[in-house]
Amino acid sequence: MKLNYEDTCGVSRKEIENEGGKLLSIISEMKKSAKRNDYSDCFASINLPFDALMRENIKNLAKEYENKINYIIVIGVGGSNLGTVAVYEALLGKLYNIAHRKTKKPKILFADTIDPDYVLYLKNIVESSLEKGENVLINYVSKSGSTIETTVNFEIFLGLLKKYREDYRDYVVVTTDKNSGLWHEGKQNNFKILEVPKNVGGRFSVLSAVGLFSLSLVGIEIDKLLEGAGIMRDKCLNENIFENPAALSAIVTYLYYKGGRNINVNFLFSSELESVGKWLKQLTGESLGKEKNIRGEKVNVGITPKIATTVDLHSMVQLYLAGPPDKFTNFVRIKNNENNVVIPSGNYAGKTLSEITNAIISGVQESYKKRKIPFFDIVLDDISEVRIGEFLQFRMIETIFIAQLLEINPFDQPNIEEYKSEARRILAGK
Ligand code: PA5
Repeated sequence: MKLNYEDTCGVSRKEIENEGGKLLSIISEMKKSAKRNDYSDCFASINLPFDALMRENIKNLAKEYENKINYIIVIGVGGSNLGTVAVYEALLGKLYNIAHRKTKKPKILFADTIDPDYVLYLKNIVESSLEKGENVLINYVSKSGSTIETTVNFEIFLGLLKKYREDYRDYVVVTTDKNSGLWHEGKQNNFKILEVPKNVGGRFSVLSAVGLFSLSLVGIEIDKLLEGAGIMRDKCLNENIFENPAALSAIVTYLYYKGGRNINVNFLFSSELESVGKWLKQLTGESLGKEKNIRGEKVNVGITPKIATTVDLHSMVQLYLAGPPDKFTNFVRIKNNENNVVIPSGNYAGKTLSEITNAIISGVQESYKKRKIPFFDIVLDDISEVRIGEFLQFRMIETIFIAQLLEINPFDQPNIEEYKSEARRILAGK
């Protein structure tokens, strides 16, 4: 991954250096955590790429299901599924389930909402597969085990599995915190269980069993994903801010936030990355939108994440170029796309879609430069396990750094907890 910023971000090296000092203490804390290589503090997620035991457990369990299942239904929401969707679609393609409809390769279905139409649609797919004698594996993912939507969907799909399989218990894998209510429930029911370290928060958990188990079942090379994340983790612990992409990006984003650019646009020049954008939206929104700072003072801070894709060139770009100066943009583009298509005829005959895309990106960036609208140009060499691992890790650590600059806690979500317990109270008729 390359972060180009010098002639586009509009912030001088001096200004970056001045803020850089504020990150040195957190970098030193994170280095200590990395050295311990455990899950004992809030930075736990940065050690996931180096957890050999976790990797082995996940792979061993995945092996038990090799060539035996047609669908995995991942039941989880927010941090318990957005990262998995992001990696699945980025690496296998948004249309994977449709393109591979006829093959026996396992596919993932995501039950993240209780929208009746959507659930019914999923139920039909699962039921027709079970009717044919195929196997469907439920992966029930919830750190707390008490999220309403997830609990409800689990009951629906477990009911379906029970209807068709006497040995249904063999087809349920629960991914949760050790000793959560769900952990004990899973044990009592003889379901298989994968542990999520308690200090790895939902939106920082994609590289734990939360994401890795189902992703490895569909053939994604989780070692490579973790390799990329590990390489990036070490880069992002560099005290030299100019060699540390997460620190650099955090500082510039923070400076612009202070200057009134409180909207962060992630302009993704690959439609396969759209769900990475949705994952990022949660990471930014939930980690940085806070009422109080670490001293308990009311601050109401937050960076509003916006995701744009190439179709926005024909809609939102008008606003981005002409509207209020309240946005800072990250263009994310792919250097080499092996899957290329050559235009067969017409004005652009002989050119590839990548060439045309690159010309469009350059055109857009030129317009930004002309108007002095600041941006980062982030280039991924390709869309592969290593690069996606790098990118996810970069964003997670960057978020931790922005929170440090804003003096807030990126790991909690008190207001989400508040409405969740309110909804549970209403459902309990209290
Ligand atoms: O990031 C978070 O903490 C949240 O988005 C949670 O992941 C989400 O609310 C689901 O929670 P749980 O995994 O406990 O079901």
